[in-house]
Formats: sequence, C-alpha cells, structure tokens
Amino acid sequence: MASHPVPQLAPEVLSSLRELFARLDYYESHLLQVTGLESFFLVTRSAEQMFARLAGAGPCGSLARVMLFGSRATEAEIAEAIAPMTMNDWVRWGLLERHPDGKDELRATLVFYPVGDLVLLFDRPHLEDQTDVDHVMSLGGGTSSMRFLVPRGEGTRALDLGTGGGTLALLTARANASGLGVDINERAIALANLNAALNGIDNVTFAVADMFDLDAVADPEGYDAIYAQPPFVIRPDAGIVYRDAVGRGDEMVAAAVRVAGKRLRQGGMAVVFCNWIVPRGGDVASRLGDWVEGLGCDTLVLEVKEESPSEYATRWLQGPTKRTAVDPEEHEKWLAYFDELGVGAFATGAICLRRRAEGRPWLHLSEAPERIGVDASDDLVQLFAAVDFLSTHPHETLLDHALVPPPFLRIRQELERTDAGWTVAESTSGLTRGLMFELNHDPAVGDFIQACDGEATPAELATRIAERHGESVERVKEHLLGVVPMLLIYGFLRVADRG
Ligand SMILES: C[S@@+](CC[C@H](N)C(=O)[O-])C[C@H]1O[C@@H](n2cnc3c(N)ncnc32)[C@H](O)[C@@H]1O
Repeated sequence: MASHPVPQLAPEVLSSLRELFARLDYYESHLLQVTGLESFFLVTRSAEQMFARLAGAGPCGSLARVMLFGSRATEAEIAEAIAPMTMNDWVRWGLLERHPDGKDELRATLVFYPVGDLVLLFDRPHLEDQTDVDHVMSLGGGTSSMRFLVPRGEGTRALDLGTGGGTLALLTARANASGLGVDINERAIALANLNAALNGIDNVTFAVADMFDLDAVADPEGYDAIYAQPPFVIRPDAGIVYRDAVGRGDEMVAAAVRVAGKRLRQGGMAVVFCNWIVPRGGDVASRLGDWVEGLGCDTLVLEVKEESPSEYATRWLQGPTKRTAVDPEEHEKWLAYFDELGVGAFATGAICLRRRAEGRPWLHLSEAPERIGVDASDDLVQLFAAVDFLSTHPHETLLDHALVPPPFLRIRQELERTDAGWTVAESTSGLTRGLMFELNHDPAVGDFIQACDGEATPAELATRIAERHGESVERVKEHLLGVVPMLLIYGFLRVADRG
C-alpha cells in the first residue's frame, strides 16, 4: 500500500490546528487522565483500552478516536470537535480521506499523536501499512524509554540519528537545546519538518542523510547530546525498513554506537536504544567493549531485558498485538540464523556513552530501572558520576565519604504484627522520577539510607549501627561495603558535596 503524501499545510492552517489542540486540551496528560491509563502505545493492547475509554471523553475523546486510533467517523461525530474547521477542509488538507466505497465515512490519513505538550503527526501504525519502505513510525517502547533521557538546557547541541518523525529532536528542542535530526527516509524528514512547524519549534533542523555518512550535514565540532534508535531487530532476511537491522546480526547497531561516540564533544553523552547479541558463553562485556574500543568514551549499558533466541523470534513474528500466528518454518529459519550467529540471548536496552577528556574509559553493565520518567537525563548524569566515583576509589575506602539520599527517594516499609510486636516485614526503596530504580532490601538497609545525612560517613554510621544492634563494627562495615556500590548506582544515595 502506498504511503499517504505528507500534507503541505499553510501557516494559518497550522495555527488553527494549534488552537484546536489547546482548546480541546488534546495533550498526553489530559488523554491519560480522562482514560485513567499510565501510558499507551497504538499497536499494543493498552490502545484498545484507551480507545474504549475515550468514548465518553467529549469532543477531545471523539477527535482522538479518529485522529489517534484511525477509527472511521461520520461528519456528525467530529464536526463539533473541529469547528470552525470543517471535515471538507481536513479532506482538502490531506488529514482525512473519504472511505473508498463512497460511504459517508472518513478516516485519518495520519495520526495526531500527543507527546508531552507536543502533537506529532506520524503514519498510522496499522500493521498492514508498516511494510511501506517509507513508513514513519509513531511512538513505540524504545522512543518512550528514551524521551526522558534527552538532555536539556540552553546551549546544548543535540543530534538525533534516525529521527523518524522527529520526536526526540523536537522534545530536545522544546527543552531548550538546539539540534539536528537526520533520517535516510525523505518522507520522515518531511513529517519531522511539518511537526516542527505544527508545534512552533524553530531551534531544530532536519536533513535527509545516512547516519553513517554525515560529514556534509553534521557540525564538525560534534554534539553535546546524541541519541539513536536505529532499526535494530535482528532477523535472517530483509524486513520492515524502519525497524529491522540491515546487515548481519547486530552490526548495524554496533556501527550506530560508534557513529554516536565519534560525534560527541568532550563531556557529551549519547544514548542508543537497541538490541544486542549476548554471545553463547555470555561475555557481553568484552563484546560491547570491542564495539566502543578506541572511541574515548565511558560506556554505561542499561539492560531492560534478555530473551532467549526462541522467545525473541516468537515476539517479533507475532507482532506487537501478539495476534499473528507464528509460522513454525519461519520460526525455525530465525533460530537457525541465530545459531549460526552464535547467539546465546538477545538483550534490549540503552547503550549510553560519555566522551571523556582523559584517562582510561570504563564500561559498566547495569540493569535498567523499572521505569524511566521525567528528568531521567539528570539521573543519567548522576549514574555516570556514580560509576566514575566507584572506578576511581578503592573499594575499601568507599565508607569514608559522606552520602546523602536525593529528595525524590521513597522508602516503603510493610509492617507485620508478630509475637514481638510490630516489625518491618518488607522494605523497598525507589525513586519517584527519572531513572526509577526499585529495590526490595533488608530493613537495615532502609535504616542505613535514612541515617545518611551528608555529614557522617558510612564508616562512622557503622560504629553507631553496630553499637545499637550489638554487632561487631567489622561485620557491619563488611555488609555496608557490599551494599553501598549498589545504592550509589541505583541513585538511592549520592556522594555528599561538602564543598
Ligand atoms: C526505529 S526508527 C526510530 C525513529 C525515531 N528515532 C523515533 O524514536 O521515533 C529508526 C529510524 O532510522 C531511520 N534509518 C534507518 N537507516 C538509517 C540510516 N542509515 N541513516 C539514517 N537514518 C536511518 C529509519 O528511517 C527510521 O526512521
């Protein structure tokens, strides 16, 4: 099926659409609030829930059912929502099309996807359309994981490799950074430009370019922030262009990681969301170490999940709604290819790089947090700082630095009534924003975190804890030496700045 042409919208049309979105509150937080959902993606089952719940959500809900979920509508259904514009206007502008068999029904040509306070136009993510070579994907899990990791701040120069409809570049631009988004797909760049105009954003440029050949468009000085979500799905044959990796195994991802690393300015950070192969035998550190060798960058790997080759093949052959029946022959073919590649497992996650000024770069593997929320980019900076700290201080000195929890840490305790009275049965720490790590731990760890006041060192606290519990100081210290690195990595404690 041929892709719809990208609409050419005059400035007054763009401003009428902006007014419409503002009037209906057609923004992400409002749609989530009226549907009672925490998040949604168009091709997963959460979308069905959202679609159903939007039925009672007034004109904003009616517009979303048509322009977000692609439901067919009659004039009566959305005329009120879009007035004073008319359905005929929208058909003329290429935002709606009439049903081919001439019924009095219309459907959206593109989706209007609310992302934060932006409304972005993408291709309709209906599975039958996705095989178009120039299909531009809407928001998926990867983009959602990365959206809060984009850096902010005046003066930040950002590069979005494979920008698609421009989501990450536009979010960065909205957060005061300027930048460049590149994509090999001309149609993606046309949509990204339209999205910039629609949202009144002018501090970002988009260019049609191959991310592996950027000299003509990229700033030779490099970038402070780079992100990429290259096509990363590993499969034996050519697949969906925007989604499936080209070349053998994960070599396209490795190349994207290297491009990102090379184009970073000193101190700059890159995030590449992707799949990588965990080789049979499991030595992922040396494999990823080879990828980043010679880049001069520290590497932090945040692994979201690992899947067996069979699970991975099934997941991608089934599709996001898990409704497509898996052809056993096709599944076998994928497994044979994975076997030939020496795949032990597939990992999904973010490979984060930071160009360092001097010294030996490190590589650190960590689990990704449970969720990634607002301000995660600040936490990523902290996480790099934590690994810096751990890699430059001998293990035995870790208790000599005062620590302090960040203000957005919560410690939850579940009490249970026993013969000895109420005691803490379960204790959990978690961050309420950013990299939202969560950890169930011994109640004593919760007590230790609470005692960290940025003044007393853990060594001093160990003496107090030992006295209180009648334990040996050495044992308490040994225990703390085991937990402090993890608490620093998870961001539950930070090294206190006593300057
Ligand atoms: C998985 S999509 C990510 C899109 C976008 N970053 C997002 O998060 O919505 C990958 C994008 O990379 C683009 N792409 C693929 N190969 C490329 C290349 N060699 N150079 C530049 N872009 C490329 C595709 O056209 C597609 O838009």
